[in-house]
Amino acid sequence: MAEYVVEFGKDGRPVESGGRLDAPAFHRNHQAIRAVLQKFLAGKSGDVVEAGSGTGQHVVDFARQAPDIVWWPSDFNAQHLRSIAAWRAHAGLPNIRSPLRIDLSDPAWCPEMHDGSGPGKLLAVFCANVIHIAPWLVAEGLVAGAGRTLRPDGRLFLYGPFKRDGKHTAISNAVFDSSLRDRNAEWGVRDTAALEKLAASSGLALMEIVEMPANNLILVFGRPNAG
Ligand SMILES: C[S@@+](CC[C@H](N)C(=O)[O-])C[C@H]1O[C@@H](n2cnc3c(N)ncnc32)[C@H](O)[C@@H]1O
Repeated sequence: MAEYVVEFGKDGRPVESGGRLDAPAFHRNHQAIRAVLQKFLAGKSGDVVEAGSGTGQHVVDFARQAPDIVWWPSDFNAQHLRSIAAWRAHAGLPNIRSPLRIDLSDPAWCPEMHDGSGPGKLLAVFCANVIHIAPWLVAEGLVAGAGRTLRPDGRLFLYGPFKRDGKHTAISNAVFDSSLRDRNAEWGVRDTAALEKLAASSGLALMEIVEMPANNLILVFGRPNAG
């Protein structure tokens, strides 16, 4: 069954200097995830927001591999924001911005998205392992914000376990889903069809489903008829 962490830094794992937290899943998943993003990002430039960055390890990995992109990590958890800032400082890369405090349950995301101090229209929004460990309201806020801020050719990438048209893709995902719902009735593995419907309400269409290791998927949304 997939393991999940609600709050990094609370599991007794050593914390690196400056508050850099470590997500064990990052080490297993990052190369496969990065390869999918790279396919879309290759040859492009622009701003990408990572929603619910957690420790901040993914954004550092992406930024190192895609130096022409400006990366904007974000989260709503104070300790995670400290960890993201610490990983950013440790990496010393010029193309990672300070983490934004974005609570995805608010479709406005954060003031910086509106006052000119944050990114402009986005090339992409990337979000891994968030919407099943959060109320549906978070998926709604994430998709609404992406629909509002993506460029015409932009994409929303959602990584995690998903049901496909109402059915689990593996028994382990069904067990995982039950464990999430036992912990919080508002959590649970989300359905591709429900997300497709939600995205449509924000002007986005499901363009691609990429199968990933360990029964995970990446759902890629973009504007219908966009390049
Ligand atoms: C399981 S962790 C995944 C972290 C990271 N994306 C990764 O894959 O390693 C879920 C993340 O979602 C964040 N999160 C949960 N609810 C959120 C919300 N309402 N707004 C923004 N982030 C949220 C948590 O703080 C946590 O960092």
